[in-house]
Amino acid sequence: MTIDLAALPHDFLWGTATSAYQIEGAVAEDGRSPSIWDTFSHTPGKTAGDDHGDTACDHYHRWREDIALMRRLGTNAYRLSVAWPRVVPGGAGEVNTRGLDFYDRLVDALLEAGITPSVTLYHWDLPQVLQDRGGWPERDTAEHFASYASVVAERLGDRVTHWATLNEPLCSAWIGHLEGTMAPGWTDLTAAVRASYHLLLAHGLGMRAIRDNAPGAQVGIVNNLSTIHPASGRDEDLAAARRMDGHTNRWWLDPVHGRGFPSDMRELYGVDLPERPGDLDLIGAGLDWLGLNYYFPQTVADDPAAPAPHVRTVRRDGVPRTGMDWEIDPSGIEELLLRLADEYGARKLYVTENGSSFPDTVRPDGTVDDPERADYLTSHLAACASAARRGAPLAGYFAWSLLDNFEWAYGYDKRFGLVHVDYRTQVRTVKGSGRRYAEIIDAHGREREGRAEREGKGGREAA
Ligand code: IFM
Repeated sequence: MTIDLAALPHDFLWGTATSAYQIEGAVAEDGRSPSIWDTFSHTPGKTAGDDHGDTACDHYHRWREDIALMRRLGTNAYRLSVAWPRVVPGGAGEVNTRGLDFYDRLVDALLEAGITPSVTLYHWDLPQVLQDRGGWPERDTAEHFASYASVVAERLGDRVTHWATLNEPLCSAWIGHLEGTMAPGWTDLTAAVRASYHLLLAHGLGMRAIRDNAPGAQVGIVNNLSTIHPASGRDEDLAAARRMDGHTNRWWLDPVHGRGFPSDMRELYGVDLPERPGDLDLIGAGLDWLGLNYYFPQTVADDPAAPAPHVRTVRRDGVPRTGMDWEIDPSGIEELLLRLADEYGARKLYVTENGSSFPDTVRPDGTVDDPERADYLTSHLAACASAARRGAPLAGYFAWSLLDNFEWAYGYDKRFGLVHVDYRTQVRTVKGSGRRYAEIIDAHGREREGRAEREGKGGREAA
């Protein structure tokens, strides 16, 4: 499969992504306090094998080695998240300088290695103390997030220009408060809707805090979106697909584009939003860029007995799937990129996550060959390039993930890394997919040079 690399801009960001709790470990070091994920993962039965992030990839101590791996892959960008409980262990108030120091060193080393840091402020690790005071269903949490955002932006904003407020608020709100399979593990529609509102308010307040403290910052939000297909042409299933699109996509996209919360979904949830004057202006204040995390499409049927949005996911037979049992469909990423450009007028897009989990085996010679992951990567990059060719303003791609890591409720069973991690020894091994990524990045570099040369020659000949 070929990738139309010429469709990608010359300054394209080729990155990998991770998040703090999934890789850092060192949960009790240098003043970090517990987050809701420490609590959740240490509650028996909540994660596969009762796994937790206590050590994870020990990135807190091995970050130099991990930056060296990024260089080996040839990447020029890295998306990381800052752990709120490291920086403000009390959730609000006193700042823990030792926590900030860690990210300060990391940012310096990345820049020195020629790697642009892209910093996400919230990737699900709410300080437990704030959960104890009500968590995201409470407005105060959004206000505290803004103070934390100011602290980080003030410290790193002289070097970091690329900022995201939240990662996948859908997961925090819907999976954490409605489905209950992620921290904090609630199953309460009212709490979930309130949480969704305050998460987006936190985005708005956080965006303002970053801009105030880091002039020149480019601020965005990262959403996990899906293409949604009806299970049949029946009117009921078509309406179900529309509801699922509202629940998965529009609820998260409309408000940050100044359109407010979609009225059909407000009616469906039937929960009063904790709105105050001015909130929607903050939330919709305008993005510098929009991040798309894409993994799989969804096919849904009407199911009035199911909780909101009253749909049932339909498993399509004969369709290739990853080790997460997620359908593989690269056309979805292209469709979503084009939708974000056409329907929402996005001016700058990043694929902030995309990747696949497959069970890897380490061969006797120590190598890891993962052709299925390499194929997933290639086909999705081809679809991204096609979207760019068709006009989507795609400025970068971040592969999920640099390393195998703690996959939340799935524990360490599921591996998404381009680099294999042996959790017993912490030995890192670049997989075949990592080598494939390096080849693609290299090919783009050569294509770019060729283009520059042709343009220079053309320019000289014409002159
Ligand atoms: O590991 C997660 C990540 O934390 C958020 N996006 C999806 C990934 C794979 O499930």
